[in-house]
Order: sequence, then structure tokens, then C-alpha cells
Amino acid sequence: MSIIFMLNYTQTYEFLKTTELSPWVNSLQSVTESTFHDKRWGDLPGWLEALGQFPDVNPSCIDLNASAVTIGKASDIDDATRKKMESLLKQFFPWRKGPFDLFGTYIDTEWRSDLKWDRLKDAIGSLEGKVVLDVGCGSGYHCWRMKGAGAKAVVGIDPTMLYPLQFEIFQKYIQDPSVSVFPVGIDDMPDDLGLFDAIFSMGLLYHRRAPFDHLLKLKSLLKEGGQLVLETLVIDGVEGDVLSPSGRYAKMPNVWFIPSCPTLAAWLKRTGFNQIRHIDTILTTSQEQRATAWMESHSLEQFLDPNDPSQTCEGYPAPKRTIFLACKP
Ligand SMILES: C[S@@+](CC[C@H](N)C(=O)[O-])C[C@H]1O[C@@H](n2cnc3c(N)ncnc32)[C@H](O)[C@@H]1O
Repeated sequence: MSIIFMLNYTQTYEFLKTTELSPWVNSLQSVTESTFHDKRWGDLPGWLEALGQFPDVNPSCIDLNASAVTIGKASDIDDATRKKMESLLKQFFPWRKGPFDLFGTYIDTEWRSDLKWDRLKDAIGSLEGKVVLDVGCGSGYHCWRMKGAGAKAVVGIDPTMLYPLQFEIFQKYIQDPSVSVFPVGIDDMPDDLGLFDAIFSMGLLYHRRAPFDHLLKLKSLLKEGGQLVLETLVIDGVEGDVLSPSGRYAKMPNVWFIPSCPTLAAWLKRTGFNQIRHIDTILTTSQEQRATAWMESHSLEQFLDPNDPSQTCEGYPAPKRTIFLACKP
């Protein structure tokens, strides 16, 4: 007999059943359960054991609108508890998306995800009362920010098991079933769900081998009139320009297509979105992406040509990221 290691999402499912997402809950539950049966996650039993050892503490404050999502104060716990928490947090390396402040321990993640949020938060309109999907949400940092911005329900999905488990550390203390992260991928989502008011796809399009299929899938998940927030890598250029790296891009093996902004706008139009708006394009800097004590391996600095940081180490244009908004008609 094999033991199945699994998280308990009962409260979240109960909450989701009270929302527009109710018709999706049964299929979400079965795809989530099958993910936990996946033999790829050899570290899962250890992660679940570590998750279970986080001490029970009531945070005296929660701030989802701070740059570092903040749970509790340093004075809520004693030094021994803090040491225990820090050593447990270190079992969830690498910490890529954040930052978080957990009872005074500042988790200085590889990415300052707050800077991305700052670039888009004023442009996206109100999330008040909205049902939101964050595709490829990592640790769920932006999911908490979306909740802080007033969303009624936020569901994050990310098939890399470590990240939904990182999310559960904060959920243990925040205890808000209206925010959830499931270890499932976009391909596990049913077609034509048409239930979300807003969908965020950030840092994912360039990882997709079929970018048009990705955009069409996102559209099928949106309600009519729903808004897509699309953030991805771009190159400089005119409509029609696309970089398709012959091998790695900035050491990433899974980057397939990097369009120019006009090409990306044309892709959105071609896949049937309207109200297409360009929000922002910036070169990624080492202020935003860098190695830290919480992610000690290579980061942007090592991904760029040391003699010419305007290029990646493979000789492609250095990472530049854009944000577009678009609506489902
Ligand atoms: C570059 S990170 C972006 C994280 C976050 N959205 C952000 O913008 O900071 C890409 C994330 O997409 C996830 N991912 C990869 N394939 C995916 C898929 N098929 N469906 C959903 N997420 C996926 C990865 O595990 C990773 O956490």
C-alpha cells in the first residue's frame, strides 16, 4: 500500500462553492488530487512534514498592501520560535517571488515582485469584488496583493509543487480561504470555463511553446468583458519581429518566443482580444532580480554578458519585460 501525501483544501473548496467558481470545484479537486499522486515530487513528504512543524501563533497584524507582504510582528514570538521558523523556512529554498515579512523575518526573495505590482496596480482598474486567476503565480505573492486590492476570490495556479507549498506557510497564519494556490498548470484548466473577471498571466507566455494557444486558453477562462493582465519578455522591434532563441535564453532552457511589443499587440488582436493597452516596458535590473540569502544560486548578473550587460550570456538582447491589458469582448 502506498501512502499519498496531500494538502487539505476542504475549506477552500467550501469557499469556492459559494462563488461563481462553484461549477469548477469538482474538476479542480480531482486534478489537484492527481497532482499529489505524481511521483515527480520526491521532496513532497519532507516539505509536508516541515509545513506541519510551523508553530501555531496568532499574528497581531496582517498587511497585504505592504511591499513585503507582512504577517505578524517580531514581538509576537520569542527567539526560540523565530529560530525554529527560520530553519523551517530554509527547507523551502529557493525563495524566488516575494518579499514577505513573517513575524519579523524578512524573506528577501530573488525577485522584488513588489516592483512588478507597482508597475501595474494603478493601470488595471479596481479588483474590488472580482474573481481573479493568477496563472503561474509562484509563491502566491501577487495573489495576496490582489486580495489586498479588494478581490473577492483569488485562485493561483502553479504546477511547480514547491511554490504552492511556500504559499501554504503564509496561509497557515493568514487563514483566508478566499485566497488559494493549487499545484496545477494552465493545461489542467478546463476549456471555456468563462468564469474569471480578471486573469493575470505574468512571466509565462515565453515559456509556452504555443503562445497563441496560451492566449486563446486565457480568453476562454475569462468572462465576457473580463480583463487579461499579460506580462512577458519582449524585444525591441516592429510588428512581425519575434526572437525564437536557438537554445537557452539568459540560461533558461524553456524560452520559446519573445515578441516585440507591436507583435504582442497583434497576437492579442489575432486571438480576439479587444481594448488592448500597453502599460509599461522596462529593462530588468539587478535591483529587481538578484541572488540573496534566500536564493543563493545564479541570478540576473550571471545571466548577462559580463563585458556587455545589454546582452545575455548567449548574445541575445538582455531581458526586457512588458505589461499589456486586453479584454475578452
Ligand atoms: C517566471 S515565473 C513568474 C511568476 C509570477 N507570475 C511573477 O510574475 O512573478 C513563471 C512561473 O510559471 C510557472 N509555470 C510553468 N509552467 C506553467 C504552466 N504550464 N501553467 C502554469 N504555471 C506554469 C512556473 O512554475 C513559475 O512559477
